[in-house]
Amino acid sequence: MVSLKSIVRVIILVISGIAIVVVGGFMMGAVARLWLPKHKKKPDPNADTHEHNKSIISQFTKQAIPFTNKVGHSNEKAFELMFELTGVCPSDTVLDIACGSGLVSCAFARIANHVTGIDITPAMIERAKLLQNEKQLHNITWKIGDVLPLPFEDESFSLVITRYSFHHFVNPKAVLDEMKRVCKVGGRIMIVDVTPDADKVDAYNYMEKLRDTSHTKALTTEQLQKMINDIELINQKKGFYGLEMELEDQLSASFPNPGDDEKLRQLFTEDLTVNKLGVNSHLVGNKIYFIYPTSIIVGQRQ
Ligand SMILES: C[S@@+](CC[C@H](N)C(=O)[O-])C[C@H]1O[C@@H](n2cnc3c(N)ncnc32)[C@H](O)[C@@H]1O
Repeated sequence: MVSLKSIVRVIILVISGIAIVVVGGFMMGAVARLWLPKHKKKPDPNADTHEHNKSIISQFTKQAIPFTNKVGHSNEKAFELMFELTGVCPSDTVLDIACGSGLVSCAFARIANHVTGIDITPAMIERAKLLQNEKQLHNITWKIGDVLPLPFEDESFSLVITRYSFHHFVNPKAVLDEMKRVCKVGGRIMIVDVTPDADKVDAYNYMEKLRDTSHTKALTTEQLQKMINDIELINQKKGFYGLEMELEDQLSASFPNPGDDEKLRQLFTEDLTVNKLGVNSHLVGNKIYFIYPTSIIVGQRQ
């Protein structure tokens, strides 16, 4: 016979069990709510880069046509200087990183065996394909993608080049390391970019960031040189050219935030007398012209 006492004991045990499960579950839920958000959502170390890349794509989607049509960006003399310093030849396999609308890629494809161009902005690659067709070049491959990391095997190319891109990168040294990795031993690396003087670079960066919100930071020639030395390139060769622009023409191809075009006009007008921006602002008639000081640096991978 089951006694009344045993029945009461079983009932108490069952009720206690239910209470433990309910209270335990509630407490675990509370702990999880406090703990999980901190641990589940780890901060993304590349968040800045992702945001920056969005800004690049937004700017260069708008700039794709006006940038490509600027005659200064297709200056044949500047291309010839790049050919001479890199010694590009018919056996070269070239990689052009942040190739944009393919102006430099198409120039090098006239001489090299093959050119690969990679850029993160689809609208720029679209222009590049049009330019390739227009120039009837059959030795170019285009790729849409980030240059960090470069989606290529080690030592894939004999010549790795880039123009007007380093000032857009959040981590230019990491990109240079990637350029070295994909370059064959004995191959060459070329960087072309605007390099303001050290005492003007801050004013220049302020101005350029107003004009192009995806601008990060121009390097001086000394800073660029140090980076090249750090990856131990040998047989270095250097060149320089000025890229001249008329202010209103450049503004018509730029997409600053509302009101910043006026600030830019003001900055350049003041600069006519003080030359603080490092771009030799000057008047031709009543128009303001200025010159982007542009360095070419080439070295060989050991
Ligand atoms: C000023 S344009 C220069 C284009 C080309 N190199 C030239 O000189 O004609 C800069 C280009 O860099 C590209 N770019 C910037 N950051 C990049 C990244 N992280 N990966 C790939 N392309 C990038 C932009 O999409 C844009 O087309």
